[in-house]
Amino acid sequence: MHLGGGGTTLREVLQSYTTHFQWTGNLEHDITTFLLTNNHPNTAVHAQKVGQEAERIAFKYYSDTKTAKAAGLLHDISAVIPPNKRADVAEELGLEVLKEEKIFPLIAHQKLSRVMAEDIFAITNEEILSAVECHTTLKKAATKMDKILFVADKIEWDQPGAPPYLNTISSQLEVSLEHAAFAYISYLWERKETLKVVHPWLRDAYNELKQINPH
Ligand SMILES: [Fe+2]
Ligand SMILES: [Fe+2]
Repeated sequence: MHLGGGGTTLREVLQSYTTHFQWTGNLEHDITTFLLTNNHPNTAVHAQKVGQEAERIAFKYYSDTKTAKAAGLLHDISAVIPPNKRADVAEELGLEVLKEEKIFPLIAHQKLSRVMAEDIFAITNEEILSAVECHTTLKKAATKMDKILFVADKIEWDQPGAPPYLNTISSQLEVSLEHAAFAYISYLWERKETLKVVHPWLRDAYNELKQINPH
């Protein structure tokens, strides 16, 4: 797979993360091993928890639980790329890097996780890839699976303790997926002056979901 104008292959860029790695074909096992061998034990635990939470939400909302679990397992695989290298790697791979992502490269990790899911884990299911690609910011016209992963990742956040918005997001999840997604986005929105950047996809999602949550 050739990407970008420089003839760099994704395999070359990511080679250092995949040497010495033995594939078994079992996604859960392989993702855990991939994260552990790259010294990201916390992300390995987080990925498993988000996979389980996404599975639970998918069951609740009559979606494919296997797809949801796979999206949860994969969503943060780009954690292995150090934050200060993410914008450069994404550019090298020919991905569009928005100015907000250059300022705050952490949010570029969702796009990197998508290409790594495609290339390293041979994922072709667009439902999974799309959900992975927008799991931090959501986006306009998000699919049901996009929202399932987005909400699962916020409920099972990767920081210590319970997230401050947990009660609100959980109660809104009883209403609808859109209400749950909006509960988190409006929590962020109320604090948007303190955010390093407001990603345009998050802004789009906020404006869209606000229309069905007019409070
Ligand atoms: Fe993430
Ligand atoms: Fe995450």
